Amino acid sequence: MATRPMARPDLASPPHGDPPLETSSLETCRARLAATRARTLALAAPLGPEDMAAQAIEEASPTKWHLAHTSWFFESFVLARFLPGYRLFDPAFGYCFNSYYEGAGARQPRPRRGLLSQPSIERVMAYRRHVEEALERLFDSGLAPQSEAARLLELGLQHEQQHQELILSDILALFAANPLRPAYRAAPPRALCSAPEPLRWIGYAGGIVRIGSDANTDFAFDNEAPRHDALIHPFEIADRPVTNAEWLEFIEDGGYGDPAFWLFDGWETIQREGWEAPAYWERRGGLWLAMTLEGLRPLEPAAPVVHVSFYEADAFARWAGARLPTEFEWEAVAQQEAVTGNLLEDGALRPLPPAETFQGHARQLFGDVWEWTCSAYLPYPAYRRPAGAIGEYNAKFMCDQHVLRGGCCATPQSHIRASYRNFLYARQRWLFAGLRLARDVGR
Ligand SMILES: [Fe+2]
Repeated sequence: MATRPMARPDLASPPHGDPPLETSSLETCRARLAATRARTLALAAPLGPEDMAAQAIEEASPTKWHLAHTSWFFESFVLARFLPGYRLFDPAFGYCFNSYYEGAGARQPRPRRGLLSQPSIERVMAYRRHVEEALERLFDSGLAPQSEAARLLELGLQHEQQHQELILSDILALFAANPLRPAYRAAPPRALCSAPEPLRWIGYAGGIVRIGSDANTDFAFDNEAPRHDALIHPFEIADRPVTNAEWLEFIEDGGYGDPAFWLFDGWETIQREGWEAPAYWERRGGLWLAMTLEGLRPLEPAAPVVHVSFYEADAFARWAGARLPTEFEWEAVAQQEAVTGNLLEDGALRPLPPAETFQGHARQLFGDVWEWTCSAYLPYPAYRRPAGAIGEYNAKFMCDQHVLRGGCCATPQSHIRASYRNFLYARQRWLFAGLRLARDVGR
């Protein structure tokens, strides 16, 4: 991989400083919520009732379940608590559509959500309308902007955005498991772009960096706080994510066959699972194809590789003579960049080659692919788990998972930010996850 020396911005002094204080009004929240709910339905619109009921893998859920669960979240945590006289749509739905909240009672086991042939999609749509009409009444009731109900409404909106990405990721897993390899949508003809640009390294001096979110942001999850100092040593980071072409080099160099590149658990996993390539890659007639939301397509050499596990990302980085960035390194770089990129609203629904020419800074930090970091998903210093069922949202998963950053081509633009922490188990690869390389300097 080619390298090019770069100027080293001082990470200790982010040029933009802390974000300004902005508070969304309830009317803005109301409009955003209506738009979010409508977009969820639009994402499900290309699917038939059979597609919406099936579940491919334990981690993924049927679309119908997502449509109902996002309504259950508002019903359980907002309407049942804060709208006087609210009537549950169906008391049995709590069991069907609770995801993992122990505080909200028993639930259908996650691997068996695909067995919920009932309720029908028509009844789930009626559930959504019931909840939305009740939310309208709640907005009309004169909520205080800083009330707990208003905070939970915002959380429900952000939660539904997360499930929009999951609808697409889970449908891709379902269609990839179908021998017909169906397409979520038709693909317009397009020319594959040429070979990827050479990778460039961008140097950073490191220092004490402010990491995480604070109360001055519009919204952040509890796991992004408290904002705190982190010590970062000098490092270099790649100007773009690893591409399909580079991953092919790894495969052709025997990367999946040499234990020297792999963590013990990773080597065990690829032996057990028979992995020889990213998820959804298929070799047909000597040509590599990849299952996408547009069906089985030729690999785009310059596009970021996607659907790799932490184990694979880590092995690739070792093969390349580099490593994965820490989540603090990634955030320090991303704090200096605008939150733009190939996100859900762009409509590509797949990772794309860089849209802009190299201008001396890191590209594609936001969108395209979630980027694995080498950081364990742990609480920040002085983090306190919120009380009640909502405390289960993020905190109880802070064990044995790794952090991913930056969002992907299925993440809503208003949902992602530099401090955002996604997390997955090391073996998981059904989300749109790829990687960006980093390396040490002077150590
Ligand atoms: Fe959820």
